[in-house]
Amino acid sequence: MKVTINDFLKMKQEGRKITMLTAYDYPFAQIVDEAGIDAILVGDSLAMVVQGLDNTLPVTMDEMIYHTKIVSRGAKNAMVIGDMPYLSYQISVEDAVRNAGRFIKEGEAHAVKIEGGREVAEKVEAMTKAEIPVMAHIGLTPQAIHRMGGYKVQGRTEEAAKTLLEDAKILQDAGAFSLILEAIPEGLAAQITKDLTIPTIGIGAGRYCNGQVLVIHDVLGLFERFVPKFVKRYANLKDDALKAVKQYKEEVEKGLFPGKEHSF
Ligand code: KIV
Repeated sequence: MKVTINDFLKMKQEGRKITMLTAYDYPFAQIVDEAGIDAILVGDSLAMVVQGLDNTLPVTMDEMIYHTKIVSRGAKNAMVIGDMPYLSYQISVEDAVRNAGRFIKEGEAHAVKIEGGREVAEKVEAMTKAEIPVMAHIGLTPQAIHRMGGYKVQGRTEEAAKTLLEDAKILQDAGAFSLILEAIPEGLAAQITKDLTIPTIGIGAGRYCNGQVLVIHDVLGLFERFVPKFVKRYANLKDDALKAVKQYKEEVEKGLFPGKEHSF
């Protein structure tokens, strides 16, 4: 059964944790879906882990739509959430609704995600009115890397924590169906989670959020350039893949592959 935004709310009410991972293509979407993960985020993190870029800013709407399309084909039950890339929603409400709509119409996503606090509330409201479920995202918002001066924990001062708490409530009132909390102190995330009726999904926000999300390349050990403290690695696929490719090379060079069983 397809996971819906109503299930998200029900899971929070029943105290069941929501599981979420990123995926950027069909085979990974199939793995995540088969494992029973509730939601797949086609994150703009693909700029870094798939495209090899330094940050998430350059990825385009067309690239995000392409990846969302191929993820949707592999996701039978998981909710698919398209991540709105930099400048696809910042300029105007009209841009925001039109681009969010592309994720639904062309990418076959069920929802979109948007970074930012009160400054994007008007857009969240307009997208929601256009029947597009919106997941909001506050704390460390990677599209603001230049303003933040790097990937730094947010909400450490009393004032910054107060702003984040207010932003969370404003986004909920604007219609967001859930909220990502990235790289903020555990106590603040717990407070936001308690104060909201919509579920919070944490990434580097401690133990008390209603769910958790990670980048799948981090989980599987496929991205080594930068490993944040909040990541737990569950596999080392880069090492396994390297070993397999080296063995293939060696066997071709030595004439061991193909064998008789691979020949017609
Ligand atoms: O782009 C992304 O993958 C994200 C998550 C890590 C929350 O925004």
